[in-house]
Amino acid sequence: DASDIEKGTYPHYMLKEIDEQPAVMRKIIQAYQNDQGELTIDPDIIYAMNNSDRVYIIAAGTSYHAGLVGKQFIEKMARIPVEVHISSEFGYNMPLLSEKPLFVFISQSGETADSRAVLVNIKEKGYQALTITNVPGSTLSREADHTLLLHAGPEIAVASTKAYTAQLAVLAILAEVTAKSRNLDPGFDLIHELGLVANAMEVLCDSKEIIEHISREFLSVTRNAFFIGRGIDYYVGLEGALKLKEISYIQAEGFAGGELKHGTIALIEEGTPVIALATQESVNLSIRGNVKEVVARGANPCIISMKGLNMDEDSFVIPEVHELLTPLISVVPLQILAYYAALHRDCDVDKPRNLAKSVTVE
Ligand code: G6P
Repeated sequence: DASDIEKGTYPHYMLKEIDEQPAVMRKIIQAYQNDQGELTIDPDIIYAMNNSDRVYIIAAGTSYHAGLVGKQFIEKMARIPVEVHISSEFGYNMPLLSEKPLFVFISQSGETADSRAVLVNIKEKGYQALTITNVPGSTLSREADHTLLLHAGPEIAVASTKAYTAQLAVLAILAEVTAKSRNLDPGFDLIHELGLVANAMEVLCDSKEIIEHISREFLSVTRNAFFIGRGIDYYVGLEGALKLKEISYIQAEGFAGGELKHGTIALIEEGTPVIALATQESVNLSIRGNVKEVVARGANPCIISMKGLNMDEDSFVIPEVHELLTPLISVVPLQILAYYAALHRDCDVDKPRNLAKSVTVE
């Protein structure tokens, strides 16, 4: 049928979409570049960013995880305070809004009902909204004041992969262009760095055999798995855990390394897989300290580190990219790990039970 043709030689859309990530990066760089080779964004959007005293990111699922990283980009590069909220919770736990809020909706489909409910609510109050979406003309795009497109191409697999990394790239570009408009120097050339990200993604997509092997070693028999990280790695761990539980049904949780000792460590037993991310120099030693703590309780540690920070005991080393942009590539081995874990368990990779690609009910 038609879907078989679109999948080409791939057994699953998810694998195809993982492999498309380097090309999507290059497409995004192109789409957001002007004739002078500079990154550019609709001036109305940059005006809205600069005119706001606080950005409220609203999203669900994987898009929420992208928002957590996006907050770091916007605060570190453009120096505007950002809050990130789960859309379904926003109505109940509505924060005290700042004087000039700007709402940023992140949604692959642009149709998530929980996010739309917030959009309707804040538009009634007269606030400005920007939607970052993969689908032009989607509900969240039409009803917001501004739209930024992901240019990731259709994402068919229920578990989001290329949309997540596209969201991060577009958020980084938004942060960078806003920073420049405020005469802030982000200290690196984002076009160049995103090019390096695309290259690194290619290397990772070519490492599937090694990652499949790691997946067999750590995830073939286990009922649960933990992902730990500190700083920006923590957010990637949340996404890695979500990928794994969505498609392999292994109970997986992401934790901040320092929080382990406050409860989660009680769950560590002989052989429990703990996947630790080590891509940040400032926390490299502390996350490795956390690994020692869980190993002392019998855990089976799988350390994924970045080149330059790697040590002998690490299971997998990702290429070096700018330390703020590591989430764009450290997530790739986690996507591939989840893919093989699901495959080895004979799960329906592209259509996991109980889940829908776009959830249009609240
Ligand atoms: C559903 C999907 C998730 C997705 C979430 C948000 O639950 O299964 O993969 O992250 O919705 O979707 P959105 O389209 O708003 O990004």
